Amino acid sequence: MKNSALKDFHKKHLKERIRLVADFANLSQGDVDVLEGRRNLSLETAESMVENFVTKIEIPMGIATNFLINGKDYLIPMAIEEPSVIAACSYAAKIARQSGGFTCYASDPLMIGEIQIIDIPNPDYARITLMKNREKLLEMANEKSKSLSQMKAGAKDLYITGYHDDQDVLVLNLLVDVRDAMGANIVNTMCEYIAPAVEEISGGKVNLRILSNLSDRRMVHCSATFKTDLIGGKEVSRRIVKAYSFAKNDIHRAATHNKGIMNGIDAVLIATLNDWRAVEAGAHSYASMGGYGPLTRFALDSKGDVIGSISIPMAVGTVGGSMRSSPVAMVSMKILGVGSSSEFAQVLASVGLAQNFAAVRALANEGIQHGHMKLHSRNIAIAAGAKGELVDIISSRMVKEKNISPSRAVELLEQYLHNNSDRKE
Ligand code: COA
Repeated sequence: MKNSALKDFHKKHLKERIRLVADFANLSQGDVDVLEGRRNLSLETAESMVENFVTKIEIPMGIATNFLINGKDYLIPMAIEEPSVIAACSYAAKIARQSGGFTCYASDPLMIGEIQIIDIPNPDYARITLMKNREKLLEMANEKSKSLSQMKAGAKDLYITGYHDDQDVLVLNLLVDVRDAMGANIVNTMCEYIAPAVEEISGGKVNLRILSNLSDRRMVHCSATFKTDLIGGKEVSRRIVKAYSFAKNDIHRAATHNKGIMNGIDAVLIATLNDWRAVEAGAHSYASMGGYGPLTRFALDSKGDVIGSISIPMAVGTVGGSMRSSPVAMVSMKILGVGSSSEFAQVLASVGLAQNFAAVRALANEGIQHGHMKLHSRNIAIAAGAKGELVDIISSRMVKEKNISPSRAVELLEQYLHNNSDRKE
């Protein structure tokens, strides 16, 4: 039975961490070579991915531990330049697993394609004729994906919307079950393919034919309990709920609250080379339906424990996309071990909830800078010029002194180098 609660994982040597991950995910020697940096995205492949290619950029990738989601253990690869996010997720997941972990549900993976029809001579009539041709249009759309049709997925339904200030315009919304793909390609292909028939039926002209990134028919919901005695007691729990109410009532706070959620989610999306801009667009537009607000909620149960939950659209794929081009992204998927896009969506929602809970708990208690700066102190030591063992020596000295700053790092480095050169003379 796999167990992601790898105590003191962060204190282990890098080689040992890789070994533990390899054991957990049954990685091959080739996968380990990827993690150890001996095999990565080739310049040749990278050049074929974008235009005017010149180089690649590196982002550190770590592993969040402790995740128990719907009864299954996960190690979660996260690629992010910001310290404390991976620690925060591991921390929150450690608390959540004491109450059974994260419980999640994902809807069918329905994406929405939008076909804008302009210059319609008789919009009321066109709306009716389009709906009367619903079956024909769906059948046509499904000609574009044999594999989705075989899985009884593909184009499932359509509906028509219009707008008040532009009377001769309608929008045909095509609902496509994209199964394990992110879905942008197939939805766009279907929309473009049925566009001529839509023109003929409506009497108008098709303008835009493109998927919507507000994938609110592809939702994931997730909930976890954080026991009050594990997070600092009743007063901390009460303050967490007050922090939620702050985000609910103050758009400036809501933006930061949601950014914290995306800190976690984006890091996993980047590690797996999924389209994080699409998920970001979906998350924030969903958060603004009915007025911009927080994507997570925190409440107290009868025992005073904190119940955290999140509802978020999640357009992600486990097949297709750019993932296959990147050896690291492929190994990340192996580490995650998700069998479908909806399982992946549930993992992502859990990570978003975990990150947000940890950040809100810290904010409502000791403040965010304490944990963040503790972990950032190594970066500061490196920026000041520390190398090798000096990084840890200087960063732990700054943490001990509670003075974590670039100027102190430079002072300590100079002191250390000076003392050492004295000793050598
Ligand atoms: N690296 C990785 N994981 C770490 C860690 C580190 N340096 N420090 C703590 N953790 C995780 C581990 O899972 C650990 O469990 P383990 O010991 O079984 O491995 C768990 O957290 C608890 O460790 P503990 O030492 O009790 O943590 P802490 O009380 O010192 O808290 C933080 C440290 C960073 C987790 C906490 O301050 C926090 O959550 N801060 C919020 C940070 C945040 O939200 N940042 C993002 C936006 S700024």
